[in-house]
Formats: sequence, structure tokens, C-alpha cells
Amino acid sequence: MNSNSLWQLPKRTTKWILRNTRYRRAVYRPRPEHKPFLVRLDINNTCNMACSKCFYPDYARQNPPKCYMSVEDFRLLASRLLDYTYCLHLACAYESLLHPDYVEILAIADEYDLPYMGMVTNGSLLEGDKAKAIARSPNMRAVSVSLDALDPEIFAKIRGRPMLDRVLKNLEDFQELRHQAGDGAPAVNINIRIMRSNLDDLPQMVDLCHRLDIHNAQFFHVAPFSADNEESVFHEPNNFNSARKETIARAESLDLELRMPPALPENIQEEESISADLLEAGIVTRRKKEEGEKPLPQEDFPFPYPTDVHCICPWMTLAIDYRGDITPCAHRYDYVIGNLLRQDLFDAINSIRLLKLRQAMLDGRHHEFCPACQPHTTPYGDPTRERLPDIL
Ligand SMILES: C[S@@+](CC[C@H](N)C(=O)[O-])C[C@H]1O[C@@H](n2cnc3c(N)ncnc32)[C@H](O)[C@@H]1O
Ligand code: SF4
Ligand code: SF4
Repeated sequence: MNSNSLWQLPKRTTKWILRNTRYRRAVYRPRPEHKPFLVRLDINNTCNMACSKCFYPDYARQNPPKCYMSVEDFRLLASRLLDYTYCLHLACAYESLLHPDYVEILAIADEYDLPYMGMVTNGSLLEGDKAKAIARSPNMRAVSVSLDALDPEIFAKIRGRPMLDRVLKNLEDFQELRHQAGDGAPAVNINIRIMRSNLDDLPQMVDLCHRLDIHNAQFFHVAPFSADNEESVFHEPNNFNSARKETIARAESLDLELRMPPALPENIQEEESISADLLEAGIVTRRKKEEGEKPLPQEDFPFPYPTDVHCICPWMTLAIDYRGDITPCAHRYDYVIGNLLRQDLFDAINSIRLLKLRQAMLDGRHHEFCPACQPHTTPYGDPTRERLPDIL
């Protein structure tokens, strides 16, 4: 036994005791055949835009070192995790296409049997070899491109860079690559933040999708939805309702799937609290499936989570950053529970911190950990969450 292992011995013993006594019910032993995890993985901490209301501009102002997960680290993390993963988002919070080794990392992810893989990008770097690799990736099911405006000035104002033309050109070219790739190429979604600045552009987003042969548009309220966000349509619910109505009417006349939050009550500013249901984007128009399109893996898996808890994220979701640090969901990036580059899977997902969170869920004490979250809207970012309606 080396000196490092000796040093670790009391800690390991304490963990072993706690896992076998106080937190016994909270210990989780996932099985690969259940593929229990929804993974939101970031492979870098950089971005080339500076969007209004995104966390990134403030983060970048602190001048953090620019970090990129190495290919070797990704391979290690993949070997520990991806056999247990049913949904991998590669990536989520930053701009993953800035990673110089994105193509190699995608090829490693493609070595695994992943029922669903998706990504979200600002679209400015969806070009060249990266775009080709994504279009041909056997695992990638959906590429979501964030596009908040069609007016160049408004785009530059709310995305922080004058890159509208480049994003539109990349989208057009990517559609061509998808057609060349044939059946099984990933779908393309457009993600639009609903803001006061872009209300006039919302209906035109549907026209753009039609012109580019894109079949899904997802509209979300910019966060926070509150009086202190000057971009939130909290301040003008009636104008949002009109733009919403026109956007839906256009989508209905074209073959477009639209996700959109519900209409807002006129007097929303007087309400004491706003229900999460009012902000959640649901499907309001559907489209026909494309020929050759792979179905979502909704019924393929058992349900390896407890059914009587307020939120299943501590069993199901792993948000992982470029260092391998894990947090239990996209709402608690502050609560690091383990590290998948320094620990094996069992240790990383059975840290005392995560056991405490699971135990709180099992005991109905979730408010102690998650006071601000309305967890029936989770698991956040799960494209197959329609399979979970009864437990959340
Ligand atoms: C943080 S970005 C990271 C991925 C990539 N850089 C992009 O922009 O698509 C992920 C998504 O969050 C959205 N987003 C950023 N700030 C937001 C906010 N305040 N409210 C709602 N969505 C936001 C972005 O528009 C994007 O669709
Ligand atoms: S491109 Fe994405 S990560 Fe970058 S600032 Fe905009 S929303 Fe944030
Ligand atoms: S309740 Fe909310 S904050 Fe807590 S683990 Fe679930 S999703 Fe995360």
C-alpha cells in the first residue's frame, strides 16, 4: 500500500460505513443494461459569443483559463460512463465546437451504443470537418442551433456578436450535408429564446425553418422570467400572446413541429407566484415523421429510478464539466458531487454529498437542497422525457 492509499484509508472507511448504514437506501448501483443516465457533458469552458442574459459573458470577464478536455481524458470518462448512458448531450453550457479535437471526441462517443445523442450550438462554427463529422455521426440524433433573431442588428445586440449571416450560411450548408449523409442523419432544431427584443422576429422564424427545410423550432422564455429581467416578456404578456398566436398559425400551415410555452394571463405582473407550467414549452404543432428517421428510444428501457421521490435527477442526471466534475442537474452547477476523471463510476455517483441529496429526496426533504427548483419540470433537457410523465 503506498503512502497516498494510507492517507485515504480513514476517509474510505468512513464512506464505507456510511454507505452501509445511514445512507444504505440512497446508494445507487446502476446496471449497464438499464442505461440509466442522462448526461450533460461539457468538454470546454469557452465560447465565441457574448449573449445577453447568458451566464457566459460574466464568467468570461473573470478571465478564467481556457480549458479543453483532452482526448485521453474523454476516452477515460467515456469508458467509465457511456455504457450506462441512454442520452448524451455533447455539449450544453459552453460552445463545444470551439474544441480543437471535437471530431476525435465525437468519434470516441460514436464507438458506444448510445440510444440518443444531441448537441446545442450557436451555429457559428458548424462548418468544415466538424459539420461533416456531425452530419455523418451514427449516434447524433439532433443538432439544436440557437438563433434568437433574424434582424442582423437585433442578433448582434442579443447574441453579442454580428454573426447572423455566418450562422444562416452554416445552417444552409449543414442541411446539404445532412441530405448527402442520407437516412439517419441528425435532425436540426432551432432554439429561440423569447425576448422583448425579438418578439417581432418570432413568426419569421417559422418561415426560415420552412425555407431551410428544418422541421423543429423550440421557443423558450429567456430566464429569469421576472420583473428584474428587462428582456422578459413578463413585462408585455399581451404582445407575447399576439406573437405566439401568429407564430403558431404559420407553423400549422407548414409541416413544422413547434415547442412553445402557453399564452400568458394579461395580469401576470400582479400574480404572487408564477406556476412552472405556465413557462414550460410544450409541443403545440406536430409534424409528420421523415422517411428513414430513427424513432426515439422511449419504450426501450426499464425504469431504474425510485418512483416515489420529488425529483429523480440525483439518480438519472449527471451534468459533467470539462474537468470531469459532476453535478446532479443543470440547476445545481454549484453542488459538485464527484469527479469522473479521478474516481470510478461507483465512487463518483455514491459520494457522501450525493447520498445526502438522494436521502433528502427519499425522505421528502428536497427543499433543504433545492429550495428554488420546481422539480416537476425536470429532468431538464431530456428529449425522451415524455416517457416519464407519471412520476414527475
Ligand atoms: C448556454 S448555451 C450553450 C450552447 C451554445 N453556446 C448555444 O448558444 O447554443 C445553451 C442554450 O441556453 C440558451 N440560453 C442562454 N441564456 C439563456 C437564458 N438566460 N434563458 C434561457 N436560455 C438561455 C442559449 O440560447 C442556448 O440555446
Ligand atoms: S453562444 Fe451560448 S454559451 Fe455563448 S454566450 Fe451565447 S448562449 Fe451563452
Ligand atoms: S429538485 Fe431541481 S435542483 Fe434539485 S436535483 Fe432536482 S432538478 Fe436539481
